[in-house]
Amino acid sequence: MQPTIILTQKQIDFFHQNGYLCLGAITTPEEVERLRGVYDRIFERRAGREEGNQFDLAGSDEEGKEAALPQILGPRKYAPELADTLYEANGLAIARQLLGPGAVFTGDHAIFKPAGSGAATPWHQDEAYWDPNLNYRSISIWMPLQEATLENGCMQFLPGSQDWEIVPHRSIGGDTRVHGLETVEPVDESRAVACPLPPGGATIHGSRTMHYTSANRSSVPRRAYILGFGAPTTPRADGRRFPWNEAKRTAREERRRAAGSSDAEPGVSVKAAM
Ligand code: NI
Repeated sequence: MQPTIILTQKQIDFFHQNGYLCLGAITTPEEVERLRGVYDRIFERRAGREEGNQFDLAGSDEEGKEAALPQILGPRKYAPELADTLYEANGLAIARQLLGPGAVFTGDHAIFKPAGSGAATPWHQDEAYWDPNLNYRSISIWMPLQEATLENGCMQFLPGSQDWEIVPHRSIGGDTRVHGLETVEPVDESRAVACPLPPGGATIHGSRTMHYTSANRSSVPRRAYILGFGAPTTPRADGRRFPWNEAKRTAREERRRAAGSSDAEPGVSVKAAM
């Protein structure tokens, strides 16, 4: 599919200065509607549950317990019709404008905030989830499949944080059974910028850009479908460590081991929930 979007130099400069960008549309309303149907079906059947790719990002993820923030990693594996979209074609074109011609698609994930109950996704940097032994130049593109508002959990960013080192993180609430991460120190929220979006709009952020979404206090589910793109990683020799990931003991990881999942290659942790 051919891309239909080109960023202006002003948008490119804004991204590099602030670490994020908001776009009013990254695909067509027709594609959003089609993707929403697919999305709801895979969450309905909890696709990927057994191999640890469907889990509760913000809770302890026990069987039979209502999930606070259901997530599916690599949803196109369970619904191939999520691939070959205009969304992805535009995302790749944007990634190449922001990161250079070597940027490629690195993975997709889906985060569902149930109506009236979905938990907040606390402030974090995506890179805090990843392999600490690599250098990254990457972006995540976050597209809501309905309107995204302050009330239902639109994206919020801390401008300038893309230039920070990775700050200390921990599992949400300090509970190592929880996959999701939060910063240990509170973030200065007075500097936060929210990006409400129409369905099919998008935000773009870098691997170190600090971001947050609130709980869903509305009467409709908040669906976000996220694509990752990156330039090739390079190895680090400084022995960087992310102890918050080493400390995790999640039910998701247990299911993955029990299923003997072939997803154990290191690259997968790159997509492990952001
Ligand atoms: Ni994230």
